[in-house]
Formats: sequence, C-alpha cells, structure tokens
Amino acid sequence: MKNCIGIDFGTSNTFIYVPSKGSVYNEPTLIAINPTKKEVVETGYLAAKLIGRTSNDVNIYRPVLKGVVARVNPSILYLKNAFKEAKLEKSLEKYAVLFAVPSEITPVEKKALESIASSLGFKEVYFENQGLLAQMGSIADDETKKGSLIVNIGGGITDVVVSVGKDVNIAKSSYFSGDLIDQTILRYLRTKHHLLIGEKTSEYIKMKIGSVEIYPENRLIEVSGRDITTSLPHSIILSTNEIRNVILPKFEELIDTICDTLALVPPEIASDIISEGICISGGGALLAGMREFLEKRLNLSVRLAPDPLTSVVNGMRYYIQKYL
Ligand SMILES: Nc1ncnc2c1ncn2[C@@H]1O[C@H](COP(=O)(O)OP(=O)(O)OP(=O)(O)O)[C@@H](O)[C@H]1O
Ligand SMILES: [Mg+2]
Repeated sequence: MKNCIGIDFGTSNTFIYVPSKGSVYNEPTLIAINPTKKEVVETGYLAAKLIGRTSNDVNIYRPVLKGVVARVNPSILYLKNAFKEAKLEKSLEKYAVLFAVPSEITPVEKKALESIASSLGFKEVYFENQGLLAQMGSIADDETKKGSLIVNIGGGITDVVVSVGKDVNIAKSSYFSGDLIDQTILRYLRTKHHLLIGEKTSEYIKMKIGSVEIYPENRLIEVSGRDITTSLPHSIILSTNEIRNVILPKFEELIDTICDTLALVPPEIASDIISEGICISGGGALLAGMREFLEKRLNLSVRLAPDPLTSVVNGMRYYIQKYL
C-alpha cells in the first residue's frame, strides 16, 4: 500500500517510515511539557537533554512504558510534533497507519493507539507484531519460508517470535528489557553504595561498561551522584565485573521466555531453528556479551541483526510494500 505510514512508537525510541520518503523520524520517545502553560517545551533528543536539568515548570514524560502507551495526551502531542518536524502534519488523513506492537498487547492498549491515530487524523489503523517486523527487517527476504525465531530486546519489553514468512507461529512477551537493567543498576547503587543517580546515568553505565559475559578486560568507570547518607555529591569507581554480577540474575527471565517459546515450537520449525540459529534485535541486543551469553545458555547459534535499533522500522518498510 502506497498510503500507509509505519510508526514504531517504542519505549525508548520512535521511528516513522513514510513510503516514497523512507525513514523520516528517529528520536527518543520523550516529551518535555510546561504543565502550567500546557505547552510542549521540547521533544526527542532536545527533551532528553533536559533530563535532570529542568526547573519546576517543566515535566519530562515518557509516553510509552513497557512497550505500550502509558500516557495518551503526551503521546498525541509527541507524535503531532514528530509529524510537524517531518512536514507531514497536514496530510495525515490520506494515510493509513501501521503500528509495531508487542506480542501480548491487550485490547485496551490497542484502543489507546487507535484513539491516538484518530486524533492525528489517520483514516485507518493496522497493527503488527514488532518481533515479526524485526525479523523481516533483519533478513534479506522471507521467500525461503523457513521457520525462524527472533528475540527483539527493547527499552521496555522483549518479544520472542517464531514465524514462517508472514505467519506468526508463537509470540511471547517478557518484561526483561533495557529499562529493567537500568533500574537494577540504579537500585544497586542506592542500596549498596548509598549513591543516588538518575536513569540517564544508569543507562550510560550499562552502555559503557555493562556486560553479561566475562571478558579478560575488566573496564572501570567513575560514577558521580549524591550520597544519600550525607546528601553531598559523591563519586565511586565501578567495574564491569561488579555490574555483571548485579545484572546477571535478571537474565533468567529472558532465558525462561525463550525456553518457554522453544518448548512450543513444532518439530519442522524446530529443525529450521537448529540449523539457522536465532536472531537477536532491538537496542538491548547491543549489550556486550549478549550474543555469546545466549549461545551458551540456549545451546543454539545466535546472530545479531545487522542494525538492531532499526530492525523494526526496516521490517515495516518491507511489510508495507509487500503485504499492505
Ligand atoms: N550499546 C548498547 N548497549 C546496551 N544497551 C543499549 C545499547 N544501545 C541501546 N541500548 C538499549 O536499548 C534500549 C532501546 O532499544 P530500542 O530502541 O530497540 O527500544 P524501543 O523499541 O524504544 O522499546 P520497546 O520496543 O521495548 O518499546 C534502551 O534500553 C537502551 O539503553
Ligand atoms: Mg521496539
């Protein structure tokens, strides 16, 4: 379909795909609002820059949490702004919209997206599993009709999807996510080191020195925050090994969801998965050691999608061209 826009409205990042234009928007899913004036202050990267630096008259919202819309009005304002930046806000009524959604989205959560789509002016709404879309965005083509298993690890949710071409065979969601790892680091620093840090800092620690595998190199980082016992600024040195021990237990949830999915795979598809291995995508797949860790734990070969952060939007391009 020529007239269908794709929106990957993710917990961490939003992508918009427009046929004939390509990917027109790629920014963090964040909005800064002045609650008294009810005005949008910034969205996306500029809103991210304000985290921890705003005065009382600016609130920063994450419109999407755990993969689904958590706040409808900030979502509408955010997407309106995104389409304005893409110079498309006036022409949306000629388009249908495709939303990438988690495997276990509820009817109420779908309704929220439908009401957002109608506020934006779209004439029709489609949904597709973001794991399936990530799979389509990670392979050369789906003509082989082989069975595949993808694990899309996002900021707020993980989707495990077994599919053959466009047909989803098994789809599961898990609350294992990038945010879960960030929160685990944040809580650990507060309880063990009495150090208060923000979400941005814990994400930075994860990206800079976080790893789920043991590497010979034990990287170090200096982290500053506020000591909760003295209320004074304080800094400590953290190592890859210390962080690894803290986050490792959280990966059991991920392993359980993948194993529960594998246990349901029909034999013909299982043999495809054994020979082809599984694919990991989403920003969470970029955590150091993720691929090696999953290979060891699952005893299957694991490959990283070519560009894990854009797998879903790339899959949308393919899906819209081929199936809508
Ligand atoms: N190099 C990296 N190492 C570790 N984690 C990373 C890296 N780059 C990005 N991430 C994490 O990836 C997550 C964002 O991934 P992604 O953009 O796929 O999520 P999303 O689609 O917005 O969320 P969801 O699909 O869960 O709604 C964040 O938690 C971010 O911290
Ligand atoms: Mg996503």
